[in-house]
Amino acid sequence: MARIAIAGSLNMDLVAGALRIPAPGETILGTHFFTGCGGKGGNQAYAVAKLGAQAAMLGCVGDDDFGRTLRANLIAVNCNVEGVAEVAGPSGVALIVVAATGENSIVVAPGANLKFNLDAARLDGARLLLLQLEVPLLVVEKAAREARRRGVQVVLDPAPGQALPDELLRNVDILTPNETEAAILAGIEPGKLTLASAESIASQLRARGAAIVIVKLGEQGCLLVEECGATHFPAPAVKAMDTTAAGDVFNAALAVGLSEGLSLPEACELAVAAASLSVTRRGAQASVPSREEVAVFRNAL
Ligand code: ATP
Ligand code: RIB
Repeated sequence: MARIAIAGSLNMDLVAGALRIPAPGETILGTHFFTGCGGKGGNQAYAVAKLGAQAAMLGCVGDDDFGRTLRANLIAVNCNVEGVAEVAGPSGVALIVVAATGENSIVVAPGANLKFNLDAARLDGARLLLLQLEVPLLVVEKAAREARRRGVQVVLDPAPGQALPDELLRNVDILTPNETEAAILAGIEPGKLTLASAESIASQLRARGAAIVIVKLGEQGCLLVEECGATHFPAPAVKAMDTTAAGDVFNAALAVGLSEGLSLPEACELAVAAASLSVTRRGAQASVPSREEVAVFRNAL
């Protein structure tokens, strides 16, 4: 079975549900609270393993209970955590508010994630490398460079959104921004994208170096933009309960599909289905479906 390496953040998510996201300076009463394992890297690793592929997580946790729980949750789905270092200090924590619409607002206190450095030898023999932007950018750049040298396919989730150097984009095989991240990368005001505006931004990002761009469009699904043109994959209509980690489930399912030899369009279909199913459930790693659940969901569409 092909191995998928995931380099990135592990966070303990502290989640409050509320009717809406509070405005700046406002205090509101929430509806419920829970803690759960998260972090964009950890979520992608957990989802790769739960969807049935061989996952190896590379990251950093603190020497606290959160760190031990984050590792244990990955081990529970047979994700390899030999590349997860424990360092002195607190683990990463994310403060999340989820509105009744399922939308969220997140602040990450990175903690140990800022101390992550890559042991490039851990990329040897991997089929794909999944990256995000919750660890130092220099490490992300090094990981993409080292993966490219080894012929490992690089999928970069440019989240949280920030401007990126073209040199990094040139080492990325598949770039997967959501609407906000796509706008930030293009240097325009974030907002809802039409398929035409998403395609235009994706083309700019391809011209800057990313070989393939997939724009994640929430309830609109995703837009795949490659050399031969753009293809839209609509999302099924679901009742969104919590969209936290939908983008992570998308990237994990995309990678699993590609590692199994699916074509890019087939992998996008799998990714949209898995992510759309995940938004019907609360939490980050807690919302990740199994491969069987995705199959049942797709059959019922
Ligand atoms: P995250 O909330 O984790 O940051 P994201 O912003 O990176 O997610 P989105 O574009 O919101 O990513 O969603 C990724 C995928 O999740 C979509 O392509 C779609 O398949 C699914 N999805 C998200 N929101 C909805 C929704 N309201 N209805 C159906 N599917 C959804
Ligand atoms: O993508 C969702 C994740 O973003 C959450 O689990 C939170 O930890 C933040 O990293």
